[in-house]
Amino acid sequence: MHQHLIQQFTLDRGAPEIEYMEQFFAEFEEKKLAHELLRRLSNRRHLILISMAPALDEPDHLVPVAFKVGHELRAVETDGPLLDLAWHLNDCVNFSERKVFYSWIGGTRKEWRGQGHYRALTEQQEEWAHSQGFDEIVVKTKNKFHAMRATLDHLNFDVLKFERHPFDNSESKVYLHKLISPELLRAHLTSRVVQEAA
Ligand SMILES: CC(C)(COP(=O)(O)OP(=O)(O)OC[C@H]1O[C@@H](n2cnc3c(N)ncnc32)[C@H](O)[C@@H]1OP(=O)(O)O)[C@@H](O)C(=O)NCCC(=O)NCCS
Repeated sequence: MHQHLIQQFTLDRGAPEIEYMEQFFAEFEEKKLAHELLRRLSNRRHLILISMAPALDEPDHLVPVAFKVGHELRAVETDGPLLDLAWHLNDCVNFSERKVFYSWIGGTRKEWRGQGHYRALTEQQEEWAHSQGFDEIVVKTKNKFHAMRATLDHLNFDVLKFERHPFDNSESKVYLHKLISPELLRAHLTSRVVQEAA
């Protein structure tokens, strides 16, 4: 089976790497900057993963091709966007009984799509979250992100909530989730090697 090479980053090293990765995604309207990652993640548990693969023109050279960043989400948040997120999830996520991990941002660069990179990152995030005592992963997307919705469907996320946009249904938000259990980890399909980024 093909083995995915995943690098796990500390926040200091990972924040500029994610800022760099975001530039490759035309579909992201607001590209996240390093300082935004630092602000959001510095006081909460988080995971920054990047999947590596051979460069197209130089197969001996590995380049970053996909990324996924997630963090702990508390029932009571004080920061603007997280306060809003926790508020929107309050009627469908049981924060008092479950430790919740929020899968914040991620994607695979166009040329490397369809090779299982996002599945590998998702499965690695689930494995790590389980090892850290989280019970549930929550993710948010929009109606218009069809590839992401299809991918989350393939990755067995269930819809938690749909929030219609007042004027433009393509902008409507979809919240999805998955409970993390040993059975879930046993059902993983990808083979992965994880390195701490030096
Ligand atoms: C969505 C995205 C992350 C998928 O990345 P990827 O590395 O190509 O995904 P994978 O190869 O790991 O595929 C995972 C699963 O999703 C399925 N899938 C991936 N893209 C799909 C698509 N466009 N349509 C249908 N299914 C798709 C795959 O078939 C696979 O299923 P399987 O493992 O059961 O066979 C990538 O297309 C992307 O970054 N898109 C832009 C990001 C975006 O729009 N973000 C919006 C903000 S939420």
